[in-house]
Amino acid sequence: MSIITMATTKGGAGKTTVAQMITGAVHRQGYSVAVIDTDPNGTLSNWLTASSGMAIEHKQILDESKIVSEARKLARKHDLIVIDTAGARSQATIFAIGCADLVLIPVQLSQGDVDEAEKTFKLAKSASQMTDRKVPVRVVYTDYTPKTKLAKKVRKEISDRGMEAMSTRLHHLVAYKELTFSGKVPKKGTAGAQGQLLVQEIAEMGCLPFMRNLKQAS
Ligand SMILES: Nc1ncnc2c1ncn2[C@@H]1O[C@H](COP(=O)(O)OP(=O)(O)OP(=O)(O)O)[C@@H](O)[C@H]1O
Ligand SMILES: [Mg+2]
Repeated sequence: MSIITMATTKGGAGKTTVAQMITGAVHRQGYSVAVIDTDPNGTLSNWLTASSGMAIEHKQILDESKIVSEARKLARKHDLIVIDTAGARSQATIFAIGCADLVLIPVQLSQGDVDEAEKTFKLAKSASQMTDRKVPVRVVYTDYTPKTKLAKKVRKEISDRGMEAMSTRLHHLVAYKELTFSGKVPKKGTAGAQGQLLVQEIAEMGCLPFMRNLKQAS
């Protein structure tokens, strides 16, 4: 089992989108995924109830004191637990980070995204110290426009501030916006491939120990 938390105090950075892409890609490979939504807006849990077309156990937990125990309970039954958080600093985010095996910080190409990513990164480091566990933290670029000066500048800022990023980036694509209407996680095309590559990269980091045959994710 494994717990992956999406976190950044920046609203609209892509937390729920990354959570959906990972959930969809891992579920499609036949593994058991459960989701915890700590965002009062309930975007991820509403998606699973209404339009994802996937039978996935999910809980919206608004009482932050229950996040860690619920995550551990679900982790006994499922291969992967995906936790989504709200785009603001909250106790819930700290607990969701504290029980994670991997923290993903979505970053779009803006100064606000970089600044909030750094604050979230520091929170994650502090949670690691508090729990005496070395939890990997990685930036995931979303709404990414490759080969632009802006992308280069943001990548440099992220690296200068001591943060590591996943090599897989979710490019600026209509398919990710369509997902908000259709509820269907893209399987094909560039977006489908990026979702699978992201899961493969996470598996290669050793964060999806249940996934033995990495080739399946390619
Ligand atoms: N790679 C992408 N290409 C195009 N649009 C994207 C991409 N990633 C995210 N988006 C869009 O950006 C918007 C915000 O994304 P999302 O809801 O995932 O962010 P969030 O961090 O969960 O926001 P919140 O803090 O409000 O929960 C959505 O409309 C989503 O479709
Ligand atoms: Mg969200």
